[in-house]
Amino acid sequence: MSQLKKALQTNAVGRAIAERYDLVKGAYTYHAKPNRRGSPDIAFNDQHGRQAIFNALTSAIDFAAILETGTYLGRTTEYMHTRTNLDVHTTEANPKFYAFSKQRFKRFPGKIHLNYSDSRPFLKNTIKALNAGDKPLFFYLDAHWEEDLPLREEVDIIFELHPKSVILIDDFKVDDDPVYGYDDYGNGKTLHLPYFDPINHHPFRAFFPALPGEEESGAKRGSVTLAMDPELCNTINSLAELREYSREPVSV
Ligand SMILES: C[S@@+](CC[C@H](N)C(=O)[O-])C[C@H]1O[C@@H](n2cnc3c(N)ncnc32)[C@H](O)[C@@H]1O
Repeated sequence: MSQLKKALQTNAVGRAIAERYDLVKGAYTYHAKPNRRGSPDIAFNDQHGRQAIFNALTSAIDFAAILETGTYLGRTTEYMHTRTNLDVHTTEANPKFYAFSKQRFKRFPGKIHLNYSDSRPFLKNTIKALNAGDKPLFFYLDAHWEEDLPLREEVDIIFELHPKSVILIDDFKVDDDPVYGYDDYGNGKTLHLPYFDPINHHPFRAFFPALPGEEESGAKRGSVTLAMDPELCNTINSLAELREYSREPVSV
């Protein structure tokens, strides 16, 4: 099948057939292989420390809604909705995972809003449509495992359109804790704080997990939480689960 799929990628009609096949396969897999669904309890890479960060942030801050990039199988999406009862808007670009999650979210009509789109237009359109005004928005950015890394543009779009946001990013380097894993795609595409230097006109502050990597469960992936609204930063600073991190000045 993979040879046939490769052959189909050479023209537009073939690509449309391959996409249709993936859409059907994703929906079929959801029903035929219930084990693939996984419990929402293993959300956030099965990391209890990360779940505690999410729960602390959403308890302390009155968010208008949650937006996620990179739905995958929808486990974290479902967790974020069921823990907060907030509407979750999520997007997935891969047809198989989109169709899989579409089946999963049928149980949450009007509460989990699944999009089939690249993360950048999704963020622009959804933030504008939500028109949250003075209310904060929560973002979970996890659409990274392809060559195309949308993360910097995602953060730029969010802080440009809605400065009153809190952004939690998965797979991010925790500078002073090597136990936490992070993504590095090479060619300037390492998920660490210098990656954001080109958008440092947004004066955001960075918070790392307070829990040492050694004590984290699950996949022990690193994360960073970003915010630039002073009131939101003060609230985040008061949480035991996060600690503010400032990069050392580079000596010349
Ligand atoms: C690491 S997985 C997300 C895991 C999920 N958030 C969870 O916690 O279970 C990354 C997902 O992002 C999707 N993705 C990658 N690039 C994307 C993009 N530019 N826009 C939307 N989705 C994207 C991939 O297809 C994949 O399903």
